[in-house]
Amino acid sequence: MNVATTIERLLAFGDENGLRSVLDARPTLELLAEEFRDHDVQEVGPRELERVFVEAGFDAAAAHSWFDAKRSAWSAAYGSDRGYQHKWGAHTPCDVLERWYADQPRPPARALDLGCGDGVNAVFMASKGTAVDAVDLSPAAIETVGRNAAAAGVTVHGMVGSVHDLPSDAGPYDLVFDRGCFHHVPIVFWHLYIEQIERMLAPGGTLLLMCHTPKVFPDRYVTLAYGHLGRVVQFFCDGKAESSFSPSDLRAIFGDRFEIVEQRRAPDHEGKPFEFNVCLMRSPQP
Ligand SMILES: C[S@@+](CC[C@H](N)C(=O)[O-])C[C@H]1O[C@@H](n2cnc3c(N)ncnc32)[C@H](O)[C@@H]1O
Repeated sequence: MNVATTIERLLAFGDENGLRSVLDARPTLELLAEEFRDHDVQEVGPRELERVFVEAGFDAAAAHSWFDAKRSAWSAAYGSDRGYQHKWGAHTPCDVLERWYADQPRPPARALDLGCGDGVNAVFMASKGTAVDAVDLSPAAIETVGRNAAAAGVTVHGMVGSVHDLPSDAGPYDLVFDRGCFHHVPIVFWHLYIEQIERMLAPGGTLLLMCHTPKVFPDRYVTLAYGHLGRVVQFFCDGKAESSFSPSDLRAIFGDRFEIVEQRRAPDHEGKPFEFNVCLMRSPQP
C-alpha cells in the first residue's frame, strides 16, 4: 500500500474511534503523506524520513515532555533499594564487550558508554585502564554508577543526559559502546544520535552497538508491514519508541556513515530472555 492511502486510513480510523493520540498526530502524519505520497510504505528509508524531520525543523526541544516521562520511568527502575531487580540489569560485564577488549592489542584510551544503566560495563572498561564517560537519561542510574565504580576502586565520569543531546566538547573517544540504548531512541532522533557519534568518535574509532533483534521484541509485525514509517507512526500516535532491528535495518541506518565490520546475533550473557544484534562499526579514517 502507498503512504498516502495508509495514512488516510489511519486518520479515518482515528476519527471513527475518537483516538485522540492519532488525531493529535495529524500534522505529522499529513506531512509524511504529502512527502511520500506514492511510495510503498515499506520502501521509505530512514534517511528519507530523517530529511523530512530535519527540513520540518523537528528538533530535540519538541520532545522534551516525552523524554521527561521516560526519565521518570527509567529512574523508577533504578531506585537504590531495588538493586539489580530490573529485568535487563546484569551482575557481570557483557561478554561481547569483554571479548572485544580481549581482541585489542591495548585497551582504548577513552570510551563512552551510551545508556550505561547501573554501569557494570562502564566499570569493567575503567578497570581495564580506559578513561570512561557514561551517560544515562536517569539520574538514579548515574548515582548507582558512582557507587558501583567506587566499590570497584575505579573512576567513571557519569553524565545525566540524553544520547541525542550530549555536551559539544565530549570526546574524542576510541570506543563508543551501546548495549540496549539505541533501541529506545525514537526514530525522529536517530539522526541526532548518529551525528553525535560521528562527532565524538576518533578517526578509526569503534562503535560497538547491541540492540534488540526482531526475534525477541514484538514490534516485528509493525516494522515488517510498515517498515520505518511504522516506527514513526508508533512514536507519534502511541508514544512508543522501543524497537527491534534486523541486520539490513542497521545497514540502512548506519552503513553510509560507518564501516560495518561485523554483524552477528548474541544471547544475553546471563541467560535473560534477550537476543542482541551485535553490530561492530568503525568510523572512517580521514
Ligand atoms: C535496557 S537499559 C540498558 C542499560 C545498560 N546499558 C545495560 O546494558 O545494562 C537502557 C538504558 O538506556 C537509558 N536510556 C534510554 N533512552 C536514553 C536516552 N535517550 N539517553 C540516555 N539514556 C537513555 C535508560 O535509562 C536505561 O538505563
